[in-house]
Amino acid sequence: MNFSDSEIVASLMIDEGFSMTHKPDDANIIFLNTCAIRENAEQRVRTRLRELQSLKNSNPDLVVGMLGCMAERLKESLLEQEKLVDLVAGPDAYRDLPKLVDQTLNGERSINVLLSMEETYADISPFRLSGNGISAFITIMRGCDNMCSFCVVPFTRGRERSRSPESILQECQEAMERGYKEITLLGQNVDSYLWFGGGPKKDFQKQNPEVQKNAVRFSNLLQKVAQTFPKLRIRFTTSHPRDFTDDVLEIMASYPNICPYIHLPVQSGSTRILQIMNRGYSREWYLERISAIRKHLPHAAISTDIIAGFCTETIQDHQDTLSLMKEVSFDYAYMFKYSERPKTLAERRFQDDVPDGVKTARLQQIIELQQSLSHQSNQRDIGKIFEVLVEGPSKRSETKFCGRTPQNKMVVFNKTTGLEKGQYVHVEITHSTSATLLGHVINTIPKS
Ligand code: 5AD
Ligand code: SF4
Repeated sequence: MNFSDSEIVASLMIDEGFSMTHKPDDANIIFLNTCAIRENAEQRVRTRLRELQSLKNSNPDLVVGMLGCMAERLKESLLEQEKLVDLVAGPDAYRDLPKLVDQTLNGERSINVLLSMEETYADISPFRLSGNGISAFITIMRGCDNMCSFCVVPFTRGRERSRSPESILQECQEAMERGYKEITLLGQNVDSYLWFGGGPKKDFQKQNPEVQKNAVRFSNLLQKVAQTFPKLRIRFTTSHPRDFTDDVLEIMASYPNICPYIHLPVQSGSTRILQIMNRGYSREWYLERISAIRKHLPHAAISTDIIAGFCTETIQDHQDTLSLMKEVSFDYAYMFKYSERPKTLAERRFQDDVPDGVKTARLQQIIELQQSLSHQSNQRDIGKIFEVLVEGPSKRSETKFCGRTPQNKMVVFNKTTGLEKGQYVHVEITHSTSATLLGHVINTIPKS
């Protein structure tokens, strides 16, 4: 999400006559787009800001700005006390950046952390920063109304609002014209997407019945995008298990260009923990959603997010997480140690009472289990043939290319003559590690 936001910021600044540089030494302005989701993300930003101080010493006119989710929380300390930044802009304030830069250059205090009920940057055509030129992110909704008790996002990104289908289709069209082959529809909770003319989702119930009836839901949007762009690969993230409905699965099953890959964060395998996390589903509900995925899309890959050591988590709760992981046999997982965040329900209501050493040990067990599940998942692919979208040279070897399967697995394969990034090839998988599939090209697939 931050990556996609940085593309919006780049576009806004370029429209003002600024240009981009990849060398910090050449820059007159440096923006750090920050994340507040866990404490260590914030620590990394602080370290980076201190490093930038040396550039400021050699270039006193350098403006350092802090954007994104840390802005609201740390504006005072970083701007006023520690004086590490000259400018602060929250996720809904990017249109204000040129003005804020002017104010900074005039020696004024430059800060805007107001959250908006409407802002979706729908009319901004993002300046693509992506290195591979193949895969583009398209934000379809912003903010989150869910209030999971561990999560700071509703406080840093504000209320949920969706972007019009027309502006999304337009952005897909532009990406395709610029040569992109794959788009990922992005949102904090994409299944909650709801277009009814604009404004915060909480106002939907106040709309008249006609407006409610004509509203566009996520499955409708996904179908429109898939239908309009049969040659684009379509992905989306992130889904919420409570809102992930069968109509989305039916659309996925009917359009071959929608990739059979679902990221469905479970967070914990214990119903008691899920309850105090305020996730709105039980272990059984989650497992039922997994069965629905397997029924509609037998070849789909499924990944998840897991938090180790949430408040009051017992050894039994932890065992429940491990057993759920085995039961689902996730293809991939993003795994985290619980980190208490200011303002959240958990911070106000519960004690962060699992000792750090215990959190670390549980996380380690979760990681080790996932490594073996990912390894097994990759082993099952040996001998199969996948359609792979070529992304370019492999990072490790000059003589190899890499690309992804529809299931989002990275494949490394031999470089055949004439093969270029952006082409599709059939690759037969011959070997695998827990992170990567290895194979050889069977044939290229013509898709103009
Ligand atoms: N501590 C640890 N992990 C968190 N996440 C969100 N908030 C926290 C937190 N306070 C994780 C969740 C979420 C992912 C994006 O980050 O697993 O799905
Ligand atoms: Fe945070 Fe929950 Fe919203 Fe995801 S769904 S952004 S975890 S509050």
